[in-house]
Amino acid sequence: MEPTSSPRQLARETIRIESHLDGTNERSLADDVLDGLTRPFKELPPKHFYDARGADLFDQICDLPEYYPTRAERAILEERAAEIAELTGAVELVELGSGTAAKTRVLLDALQAAGTLERYIPVDVTESMVRDCAKTLTSEYPGLRVHGVIGDFERHLDRIPPAAGPRIVAFLGGTIGNFPPGSRRRVLRQIAGLLGPGDHLLMGTDLVKDPRVLEAAYDDSQGVTAAFNRNVLHVLNRELQADFDPEDFDHVALFDPHNEWIEMRLRARREHTTLVRDLDLPVHFDAGEELRTEISAKFTPERLQSDLTAAGLELVRWLTDPDELFALSLSRIHAH
Ligand code: SAH
Ligand code: TRP
Repeated sequence: MEPTSSPRQLARETIRIESHLDGTNERSLADDVLDGLTRPFKELPPKHFYDARGADLFDQICDLPEYYPTRAERAILEERAAEIAELTGAVELVELGSGTAAKTRVLLDALQAAGTLERYIPVDVTESMVRDCAKTLTSEYPGLRVHGVIGDFERHLDRIPPAAGPRIVAFLGGTIGNFPPGSRRRVLRQIAGLLGPGDHLLMGTDLVKDPRVLEAAYDDSQGVTAAFNRNVLHVLNRELQADFDPEDFDHVALFDPHNEWIEMRLRARREHTTLVRDLDLPVHFDAGEELRTEISAKFTPERLQSDLTAAGLELVRWLTDPDELFALSLSRIHAH
């Protein structure tokens, strides 16, 4: 145990990092894999993509010509951050799935310019990301305090410190779209629990558009997304002593027009059985059998509205880019 510090010391502390992932329960990987690989239709939850290599590949995805969401979201932020800062009067920014916090700087700049910025609270499962961004941001923003939370935003939202004043909870990058509809509302309800009456949720969602544009964004010509998708197998090999050959699988990205989401799959090139040694689990794949690794839901304003309403939230602003590729929504808890 670290020695506890007095409230005064805490208030002055520039960087504070708390980890809620321990070795045995690390990201719940073993349980997720045991569930996911024994289902009749094999499936893995998306958070396991992001080890250090996965995080690096995701960074490369964000720069790909085909992957428009990052550029579109950044453009909206650049256009509207001052308005967001003024409307919210936020003294602190909590960011879920913060990653490298690349676009976050646009918001931090605006809050700093408005003179309200005091604290940034990044929350991510990837330890190195939280530590690195705490270091760089405290040096880039003198006076900023960073309270990093290494944890799972599905399980550890209760570990986020109480608000020190008006707060923005940011959930960028369309990550909410990686949850199927029921889980999406459950996550949103939990996030709503972080908000008091003066607080706001700022959430990025990708919008429904031409399926060719969507599929290209998840199946780029340089094969970076394919490498990212296969990386989850490297994670299983390393962390659970599995013996997948990632080259036994093709990367597949398809738009499902009924559900209006992108599905990412890994398709076995040949019949084979792999062993997940730590779980004593042989996993059989038929030739052509698919493992679903990710969905990425695309939104209409109506879909977002109904999800927000179901979570007890009300829309304050709907912000989009000129081509309506991507949207940021600013919402708050519903006043009863
Ligand atoms: N916000 C950044 C990164 C998006 S990628 C952007 O907009 O570009 C998704 C990020 O969420 C990754 O950094 C990943 O590590 C993190 N993440 C995914 N699932 C998570 C979970 N369940 N809990 C906490 N972080 C998670
Ligand atoms: N949240 C991002 C999205 O849905 C994550 C992502 C981008 C992703 N490209 C990917 C996940 C490729 C898996 C595979 O857009």
